[in-house]
Amino acid sequence: MTRTVVVTGAGSGIGRAIATTLAQRDWRVIVTDVDDAAAREVASGLPNQSAGHESAALDVTSPDAAAAVASDIAGRFGLDAWVSNAGISFMHRFLDAPIERYEQTLDVNLKGVFVCGQAAAREMVRSGVAGAIVNTASMAGKQGRVPYLADYVASKFGVVGLTQAMAYELGEHNITVNCVCPGFVETPMQSRELTWEAELRGTTPEGVRAMMIDDTPLGRLEQPDDVARAVAFLLSEDARFITGEALAVNGGAYMD
Ligand SMILES: NC(=O)c1ccc[n+]([C@@H]2O[C@H](COP(=O)([O-])OP(=O)(O)OC[C@H]3O[C@@H](n4cnc5c(N)ncnc54)[C@H](O)[C@@H]3O)[C@@H](O)[C@H]2O)c1
Repeated sequence: MTRTVVVTGAGSGIGRAIATTLAQRDWRVIVTDVDDAAAREVASGLPNQSAGHESAALDVTSPDAAAAVASDIAGRFGLDAWVSNAGISFMHRFLDAPIERYEQTLDVNLKGVFVCGQAAAREMVRSGVAGAIVNTASMAGKQGRVPYLADYVASKFGVVGLTQAMAYELGEHNITVNCVCPGFVETPMQSRELTWEAELRGTTPEGVRAMMIDDTPLGRLEQPDDVARAVAFLLSEDARFITGEALAVNGGAYMD
């Protein structure tokens, strides 16, 4: 039986790689993103098209929209897994950070995980599915020693805590909830951050990139695939007794 997974923020970067890896591993993937065109493009390019991949526009901050996607997929295919991956970042010195940015970041990165996790879990419980939920946190969800990203750090610490709280309550329904904590991943988000950080530090994007590699014992920038394979593991039968975990996937850039 083909299992079905919804991935949020799957129109780019890490989400796109998660969708691709899961499609390669025989999942039917529902590619969602606030950017509908990007979601459609990713879904149509996934491997193993006979699995019946689909796309849907989904803004993760909308409880109604998340509930509609979860119930539609649960009704037609059964909802086996949900990956809450959508996230945003802005860089400011803490002293200069506008409150609107804090609100936007917390809304997408933390409220989005709450909203989508609740929508997914309600359908899994209703249909008695022993489901799996994976959230994309960050190594910035485990240490605040990260420059110019105070709101982002707060949101990702929140995701790690929320993952544990969800795992605790959903255990009795045989639903696992885990998160991955990536490091310096080469994606469009990172390329925006390289430019901002270079400006804030008075250096070049190449200089910041070199610092990231220097900070990574495995000696290279992380690739979206590195994260995607860890997510595939957390959704696999091999991880069936793992829940509430915040799995570091960062080449050693932060060890806890
Ligand atoms: N790139 C990194 O170094 C890194 C490191 C650790 C964690 N992360 C996390 O990984 C996740 C993916 O990041 P990425 O680097 O692939 O970024 P990205 O910008 O390449 O992709 C993020 C995707 O999320 C979508 N998105 C934004 N707001 C949304 C919303 N409200 N609803 C639905 N979708 C929305 C965007 O349209 C985009 O397609 C994020 O949660 C990010 O915080 C990234």
